[in-house]
Amino acid sequence: MFSHSIIEKSTPLLLLLTLVTISVGGLVQIVPLFTIESTIEKVEGVRPYSPLELVGRNVYIREGCYVCHSQMVRPFRDEVERYGHYSLAAESMYDHPFQWGSKRTGPDLARIGGKYSNDWHVAHLINPQSVLPHSIMPSYGFLIDKELGQTDIDAHLRALRVVGVPYDDEMVAAAKQDLVTQALPDADVDALLARYPKAVTGDFDGQPDRLTEMDALIAYLQMLGTLVDFDNYSTADLAQ
Ligand code: HEC
Repeated sequence: MFSHSIIEKSTPLLLLLTLVTISVGGLVQIVPLFTIESTIEKVEGVRPYSPLELVGRNVYIREGCYVCHSQMVRPFRDEVERYGHYSLAAESMYDHPFQWGSKRTGPDLARIGGKYSNDWHVAHLINPQSVLPHSIMPSYGFLIDKELGQTDIDAHLRALRVVGVPYDDEMVAAAKQDLVTQALPDADVDALLARYPKAVTGDFDGQPDRLTEMDALIAYLQMLGTLVDFDNYSTADLAQ
């Protein structure tokens, strides 16, 4: 009791001891984080983007789709009922930069993959009002005429590898080929699917003989939220 009143009456001593106490608490929380490789729990099915999806993602960012669309389903009942299972941290672990966002002029796109056909996406991107008369989304029809001149895709994969995305040498070596193969109708896609399981393949933009930014963007949209098999996870905890 006596000693405590000494501390309380001396501001420098109180400050010093407060600092020591907080430092100990901080160290106990922070130091263990340096000894583990990742704070994100690995989830089965999550993989790096295929080259075509990656280019599509770049188009998505370049065109500012994130200005109106988020990509994170929050763990609330209304969100889960509208969009599907809430987003897991692991689902965006290979995103550089991530697209969670908070602005929703349009709906969340984290689970858009497989919701519509490729043809729907083409029609919607060319003229959103043709499928939803009251849509205020702008047209992105010009993407269908923009050939994919992506020749540095392997460098792109290597750059992402530097920040921790596990692209192996085989993926980098095959990147240019994979980019084309994924959007070719009737191509042999076994090797591509072995590298990037669940990748959606085939022609996307309705022009089988051309590889365009529209192909890439739709390839990206069609895989969003589809990698994890949510039959293994339950949303029961949100059901009350
Ligand atoms: C100015 C805001 C705005 C921008 C920018 C925008 N969108 Fe949208 N988007 C909307 C709105 C509003 C809707 C809902 C009406 C509709 O479906 O058109 C929507 C709907 C969508 C849907 C259908 C979602 C669903 O679940 O039905 C997709 C897919 C989509 N947008 C993709 C994109 C992509 C890709 C881009 C960038 C190339 C983009 N949007 C840019 C506003 C926007």
